[in-house]
Amino acid sequence: MPASIKEKIDLTNLPKHIAIIMDGNGRWAKNRNMPRVFGHKNGVTSVREVSEACAELGVGCLTLYAFSAENWGRPTLEVNALMSLLVETVKKELSTLNKNNIRLTAIGDLSKLPSKTYNTLMDGINDTKDNTRMTLNLALNYSARNEMIQATQRIAELVASGNLDVSAIDHTTIQDQLDTKDMPDPELLIRTSGEQRISNFLLWQIAYSELYFTDTYWPDFRREDLYIAIHNYQMRERRFGKISEQVTITEI
Ligand code: IPE
Ligand code: IPE
Ligand code: MG
Repeated sequence: MPASIKEKIDLTNLPKHIAIIMDGNGRWAKNRNMPRVFGHKNGVTSVREVSEACAELGVGCLTLYAFSAENWGRPTLEVNALMSLLVETVKKELSTLNKNNIRLTAIGDLSKLPSKTYNTLMDGINDTKDNTRMTLNLALNYSARNEMIQATQRIAELVASGNLDVSAIDHTTIQDQLDTKDMPDPELLIRTSGEQRISNFLLWQIAYSELYFTDTYWPDFRREDLYIAIHNYQMRERRFGKISEQVTITEI
């Protein structure tokens, strides 16, 4: 039996933050002649496996795109099912999150979530706030453009009130107003299901992320698939605008 790709992962060069666009639940279900919601339900197992795998490896932060601001446009039945699934999942996984020392957080406009979803989420966030091993960050009613609009509004207020000089606006000023202000930018962005687009996710934060696309549908994306993605990331040379010789550590 071939050794797991896990053994090839360099634990000293892990991404500190992995972001995932969990896509393909609907098509996964359709292939099985099942309703789309069946795909979402099965996607929860992938969430659990991938979260545990990240925590075990030592990845500090995992952001999962669970519901976009645009997803409100889906049929009401599906939106309601997704909101209920979130309540169910947070409640069910809470003890495991605590056992694994994982902190739950969320980004996006949470105030627009149905009250039951919002309250359960807040309970989950509160009950895990002291955990330190990994942050599991859910993007809910998230839109990167909305996040930027909000950031711009807050910065404009600071300028208008005389608390910020226009010439002092820099990267940090913007970073500090984003929902992700306490997290490093993701070094690795994964999208499942074969689509190769960003769909309004973390536009500022992924400026220099490595993008990894796989045809695997989210409910099939498990531990080993994550290891493959991380290994693939580690094989890449991140140049940040420089040339290869400048970023390669050569042994003398
Ligand atoms: C991703 O799977 C889950 C959410 C967007 C909530 P989809 O539901 O988008 O599945 P496909 O893309 O239709 O297969
Ligand atoms: C992106 O998936 C949003 C989430 C995974 C939550 P979508 O399925 O909504 O994206 P598009 O519509 O294919 O761009
Ligand atoms: Mg989709």
